Amino acid sequence: MLHHTQREIRYNFEYDRRLRACFIGAGGHAYRNVYPTFRYAPVDLIAICDLDAARAKGFARTFGAERTYADHAEMLAAEKPDVVFIVTSYDQDGRVQATRLARDAVAAGAHVWMEKPTAASRQEVEELKALSERSGRRIMTGLKKTFFPAVEKLKDIIASPEFGTLSSLVVRYPQAIPPLADRADLVAMQSFLDHIYHPGAILHYLGGEIDRASYEWTPVTGASVATLRFRSGAVGALHLAAGQSGSAPLERIEAIGEGSHAIVENGCRLIHYRKARLPAYGRAASFIQPEESAALIYEPEFSLGQLYNNNMFTLGYVPEVLHFCEAVLEDKPLTKGTLDAAVEIMKLFDFYRTTEAGQTRTL
Ligand SMILES: NC(=O)c1ccc[n+]([C@@H]2O[C@H](COP(=O)([O-])OP(=O)(O)OC[C@H]3O[C@@H](n4cnc5c(N)ncnc54)[C@H](O)[C@@H]3O)[C@@H](O)[C@H]2O)c1
Repeated sequence: MLHHTQREIRYNFEYDRRLRACFIGAGGHAYRNVYPTFRYAPVDLIAICDLDAARAKGFARTFGAERTYADHAEMLAAEKPDVVFIVTSYDQDGRVQATRLARDAVAAGAHVWMEKPTAASRQEVEELKALSERSGRRIMTGLKKTFFPAVEKLKDIIASPEFGTLSSLVVRYPQAIPPLADRADLVAMQSFLDHIYHPGAILHYLGGEIDRASYEWTPVTGASVATLRFRSGAVGALHLAAGQSGSAPLERIEAIGEGSHAIVENGCRLIHYRKARLPAYGRAASFIQPEESAALIYEPEFSLGQLYNNNMFTLGYVPEVLHFCEAVLEDKPLTKGTLDAAVEIMKLFDFYRTTEAGQTRTL
């Protein structure tokens, strides 16, 4: 299987065909992680819009956009972009600004790439899906975790016959949930909504749809552990490890098959424990496995000025933007960051929002 990570990357100016792009939002994340991806994507950045005109101008100078706006409707009408990138934030009431901006961009005839969260409710995601189907415009959410090279490779391992059937999947991610009484309040839930997209995307990408779940929660830090059953029959756990040290790697993923398993630690260290030949218990003098069943370890080197050891690639930022651009340019369906994936993540969000600790619910 050939992933983006195993192919050669082209520089922006080397593409023959580039998409006419507008960008809504000149904020911190966009500056650090989204505008810089265009160096490696078929994108012609025509115009930038931010409510703060000075920021839009500063970004335009830095990233080479021709014009700036403080009103997105004006920009869409004047520029008629092929695609719109949206990286905005939350309204005062906790609603997601990008949801309505995406509707406006599609109404103006553009395909949309937007940061997560797609929306603050499952219903709004379903409305976007209906809009996308009606208009034939693609709407993609940046589910970057599904583009991490280590996570893509883990998916390949899970799909390989030697791994067996995925039997269990465990994800750890540090995130608090407020007390149940506060969970109807989108402002109190903003941090949770913002972050559930990350472990939620991993669980859906690797394990498929979740059928039922329950969880336990501690008021000490807001940490929780959920037990999950996937439709496939696999079981899983989501440990939302609020309270862990801020100096530690955030995440760990463990996928277990039948006599074989693999771990992604810190997003970029993958260990594949292949099916082993077990020596006789109590008699084996060596722990060394023959080469064909030895563990495989993948991790980037940090010596060369390469692309693969840059966070633009290890964290999936360029690959997720390329996935969108290629779907538009080649008229192909999106397979990742889809609205269907966002619906599944919103089911998980609703589960935590409305379920008491200790109860089992069908999602
Ligand atoms: N995937 C990731 O790694 C990752 C990391 C951090 C943040 N994010 C996501 O990125 C988004 C932005 O986060 P941030 O911290 O950069 O926020 P931010 O507040 O720094 O930036 C948001 C910008 O959007 C602008 N904006 C809002 N409404 C607008 C409108 N109608 N028209 C034009 N501009 C408008 C604001 O003026 C602001 O400059 C969030 O959705 C967040 O979840 C993703």
